[in-house]
Amino acid sequence: MTLKVGIIGIGGISGTHVPGWNASEHAEIAGAADVNPAALEKFGAEQGITKLYSDANDLINDPDIDIIDVCTPNGMHAKFSIAALNAGKHVLCEKPLAPTPGEIEQMIEARDKSGKMLMTAQHFRYTDTAMALKQEIETGVLGDIYHARAWMLRRAALPAWPGIMYKKNSFGGPCIDIGVHILDLTLWMMGNPKPVSVSGTAKTALALRDGAWTKWGGDIPKDMDNEDFAAAFVRFENGATLMLEVSWLLHHDTDGEDMRMWLYGDKGGSLWPKNEILSASATHHQLYNTQLKHAPTVIEAHAAECVDFAAAIAEGRPSPVPAEQSLQVMSILDGIYRSQAEGREIQL
Ligand SMILES: NC(=O)c1ccc[n+]([C@@H]2O[C@H](COP(=O)([O-])OP(=O)(O)OC[C@H]3O[C@@H](n4cnc5c(N)ncnc54)[C@H](O)[C@@H]3O)[C@@H](O)[C@H]2O)c1
Repeated sequence: MTLKVGIIGIGGISGTHVPGWNASEHAEIAGAADVNPAALEKFGAEQGITKLYSDANDLINDPDIDIIDVCTPNGMHAKFSIAALNAGKHVLCEKPLAPTPGEIEQMIEARDKSGKMLMTAQHFRYTDTAMALKQEIETGVLGDIYHARAWMLRRAALPAWPGIMYKKNSFGGPCIDIGVHILDLTLWMMGNPKPVSVSGTAKTALALRDGAWTKWGGDIPKDMDNEDFAAAFVRFENGATLMLEVSWLLHHDTDGEDMRMWLYGDKGGSLWPKNEILSASATHHQLYNTQLKHAPTVIEAHAAECVDFAAAIAEGRPSPVPAEQSLQVMSILDGIYRSQAEGREIQL
């Protein structure tokens, strides 16, 4: 049976999902919804589909649709996902699954009531370097991972559009925008240990200074209220720890975006995306840096997540990115904001 996909939100990111649905042997695009009629009409013509709705609820309640792909701005993720699960649809939802832990808990409740699949579109898990490293870690090459360091740092690269700059639209700055990517990836590599506390800072360090600019163009408004920098120290139930840094504007040594993750275990360490495994011989007192070489993936990562989502449904596998793991991510990010507000470590 071919699963029929309905996409809500025919904007930027949906364009990266389309090749995945078109490549899937288990799914095909059958409908779309958007508040922008021109975009909807163009999409319908390109994809050869006629189920086009200006109200997303009409798509959600269309009996021919099996999968709802939520590609709207962050604040609508929970609303549309819950409605779709209640209507008996499987849901793939863009990151962040929802911008607050409370909304993710409601999504989990709706998923459990419906028995349908809910997955967060964390495409970095599907990059060739991440898949190769995860596979290697699962052989036990790092041993017990007791510490991680992760960052996603941009220099003069703030997305200066209204949907991103104000809390009322985006619910947060780089924590919510890009922190979800590197944090999800790092927790996944660590085996998703349960976070128990976070001490963090989140501040608008540079964006509101005179002369602040972004290479992506546009003016940074003086009433922007999101952070442009955040850092945190996280403790996990198993004793492991994590240091995290994210920024849109840091005076950091990069031309664009520097995204990195170190994992330190009792048998070895690793550095991603360089994909080196670092170890030491106890008998010869030698140090080894092993370069992982992997075959490039045949399909782009955003598309790959759609293919895997449909395959997981067809094969009866669990959700490739369970909502519980996104709840861990969002609890930590929410903890950073609370830690900043209260000036202390927060118990999660
Ligand atoms: N995984 C990634 O790499 C990545 C990259 C960019 C964005 N995203 C995520 O994708 C989501 C969308 O971001 P984008 O960049 O595509 O934004 P966008 O503004 O380009 O697209 C959003 C679309 O949703 C539509 N929309 C808004 N309100 C709607 C409603 N009530 N009903 C139906 N449609 C509605 C808009 O008209 C627009 O077409 C965000 O959650 C963002 O975090 C993920």
